[in-house]
Amino acid sequence: MSVLVVGASGAVGGAVVAGLRERGEDVRATSRTPEKLSLPDPVRVFAADLNDPAGFSPALQCVDRLFLYADLAEPEALLDVVAAAGVRHVVLLSSSSVTSPGAAEDFNGSRFLRVERAVEDSGLAYTFLRPGGFASNAARWSWGIRADGAVALPYPEAVQAPIHERDIADVAVVALTGTSLIGQKPVLTGPERLTLREQVSTIGEVIGRRLSVIEQSEAESAAMLAQHVPDVWVRQIITDWREAVGATPLVSDEYALITGRPARTFRAWVADNIDLFR
Ligand SMILES: NC(=O)c1ccc[n+]([C@@H]2O[C@H](COP(=O)([O-])OP(=O)(O)OC[C@H]3O[C@@H](n4cnc5c(N)ncnc54)[C@H](OP(=O)(O)O)[C@@H]3O)[C@@H](O)[C@H]2O)c1
Repeated sequence: MSVLVVGASGAVGGAVVAGLRERGEDVRATSRTPEKLSLPDPVRVFAADLNDPAGFSPALQCVDRLFLYADLAEPEALLDVVAAAGVRHVVLLSSSSVTSPGAAEDFNGSRFLRVERAVEDSGLAYTFLRPGGFASNAARWSWGIRADGAVALPYPEAVQAPIHERDIADVAVVALTGTSLIGQKPVLTGPERLTLREQVSTIGEVIGRRLSVIEQSEAESAAMLAQHVPDVWVRQIITDWREAVGATPLVSDEYALITGRPARTFRAWVADNIDLFR
C-alpha cells in the first residue's frame, strides 16, 4: 500500500515526500499543477485540487495513509471520498492557532478547527500536527534584505518560536509510518524564543551582512503586506505581531520526544535557505 502526499510542491509536503522515500515507502503525490513538480522517479504524481474531491479518486487507489493540508473549503466531501477509497490514517497539517482561547471565533483558528472536526467526525484514524509560526515566514523579508539590507516591521519586539518546516515533516513521517501518533495532536514549535529583531539579526549573521530594522506603523506594514497576501491575512499577521510583543510563547518539546532529536533552530533554517537572502 502507498502513502498519498497532498501538496508535494509545498515546503512541508515536499519534505514529507523526501522523508517517506528515505524510509522506503511507496509514495504518491498530488499538485494542482503537477507539470511544475519534479519528484524522484518512483513517486507517481497526480493532478488534484482539494476543492474537487471527486478528482482525488485516481490518486487514492492503493493508498492507506494520507498527508493533507487543511486548505479546503468542504472537508466533509473530500473525507467521504478518502474513506470510501480505503484510507485508514489521515495526518493533517493543522495549526497551533486551534489551541488559543477564542480559536472558534478567530479567522485562522476557526478554519483549522473546522477541518479537524471533519476529520474526527469521519471516523478515520488521524494525527493533527499543530505547528506554531513557521521560520519560513521570514522569507517575506528576503526582498528588502537583498535590496536594502533592511526589514521594515511594526513590532520588531514581537516574540515567536519559529519552526523549521522539515521538523513538521519529520513528525508527519513518524505519524505516517507507525501507529504511535494515532489520535495525537502534537503542538510543534521551534526550540527557542526569538523576537523578530533577533530573527533579522540571525539572518544577517548567517549571510555575513549587517541588516537594519526599520520601524513602521501598522498602516505602512499593512500596505506592504497587502502586495503579497490577501487582506484577511494582513490583519491576522499584524494582530499576531502586536499580541506577541513581550509574550512568552510556548516552546514545545514534542519534536524531541517524537523523533529523539533536538528541533532545528531558526539559524539552521536560514542556513538551509541562504540563497533567499543574498
Ligand atoms: N506559515 C505559518 O506560520 C503557519 C503556521 C501554522 C500552519 N500553517 C499552515 O501550513 C500550511 C503551509 O505549509 P507550507 O509552508 O508547506 O505551504 P506551501 O509551501 O505554501 O505549500 C502549500 C501546498 O498546499 C497545496 N495546496 C494548497 N491549496 C490546495 C488545493 N486547493 N488543492 C490541492 N493542494 C493545495 C499546494 O499544492 P499545489 O499548489 O502544488 O497544488 C502546496 O503544495 C498552510 O495550510 C498554513 O495555513 C502555516
